[in-house]
Amino acid sequence: MKSLSLVVILLALGIVQANKVPEIYAGQSRSASSIIVDALEAIKVQMVEGWPQYGIPPLAPLEIHHKDFNYETGEMHANGALDDVIVSGLNEFEIVKMSVNLPLSRITMEFNFASLNLTTKYKADVGAGWQMARDGGAFLALEDLNISGQIRYSTGLVGSNNYLRIKGIQLQIVVGNVVSNIENLSKYRIVNRKLNEIIEEFINLTINDNVDFVTEWIDSTVTPACNNLIGDRTLKDIIDLIGGGGGNLI
Ligand SMILES: *[C@@H]1O[C@H](CO)[C@@H](O)[C@H](O)[C@H]1NC(C)=O
Ligand SMILES: *[C@@H]1O[C@H](CO)[C@@H](O)[C@H](O)[C@H]1NC(C)=O
Ligand SMILES: *[C@@H]1O[C@H](CO)[C@@H](O)[C@H](O)[C@H]1NC(C)=O
Ligand SMILES: *[C@@H]1O[C@H](CO)[C@@H](O)[C@H](O)[C@H]1NC(C)=O
Repeated sequence: MKSLSLVVILLALGIVQANKVPEIYAGQSRSASSIIVDALEAIKVQMVEGWPQYGIPPLAPLEIHHKDFNYETGEMHANGALDDVIVSGLNEFEIVKMSVNLPLSRITMEFNFASLNLTTKYKADVGAGWQMARDGGAFLALEDLNISGQIRYSTGLVGSNNYLRIKGIQLQIVVGNVVSNIENLSKYRIVNRKLNEIIEEFINLTINDNVDFVTEWIDSTVTPACNNLIGDRTLKDIIDLIGGGGGNLI
């Protein structure tokens, strides 16, 4: 997920840059914004197959055969495994807003995911002074998920090379509804439903009540990761990279 967003952001910036000069000076009719929208639409389609040349697997749906987990927080522990994980909806987003301000080097955007959901089989061993082993099927969904925000970047000339740096990423994430349907948390249906409601509320609050924290976390982790990825590459290198391996991206 993280490497995907990096690719998307780099791609967007590369495309904006590639088109900046003609955009302003030759009065190309297509705006930078619509070029990014077109690229994102192409990315949605490509997500079905992934980008094997960059080691990115199919993302729509994303399938993970097996994943072990092991959490320890104080007294509480939870460990186990997920099998046959399927994540759906990564490519089912609507671009509500995409606006590039070239003079201010700023991209403002808003995306809406109708349903981002996960089905899996789980096995878990949970405890806090007591022990509980559970297994079964699980379904989790984030519905009406909105991601909106801004990317600020800078460009310029060093020697004869263009350079590109991400100055900041401010993304706000809000979820409209959370669905949790995990089997066998309790053998009593009504208790099972209640436990799922607690999980729904927990996820909802974690996302919606921590908007500032999530925004800060994304900015402080993704911004340097993007800049590391760009490294000493010039703009031309990045555009060649996108053009060279991207196949039918644009
Ligand atoms: C899961 O997400 C996909 C893609 O958004 C959607 O088509 C599907 O209806 C969702 N599944 C459920 C059970 O909500
Ligand atoms: C998400 O955005 C859409 C479209 O802008 C809006 O109609 C909806 O109310 C928003 N949902 C949430 C949970 O903020
Ligand atoms: C888990 O729940 C499903 C459906 O509620 C049931 O068929 C199955 O027997 C349960 N498995 C265990 C190990 O309790
Ligand atoms: C989700 O959280 C928001 C903000 O804290 C709250 O207004 C809303 O009622 C919650 N929704 C559900 C379904 O719990």
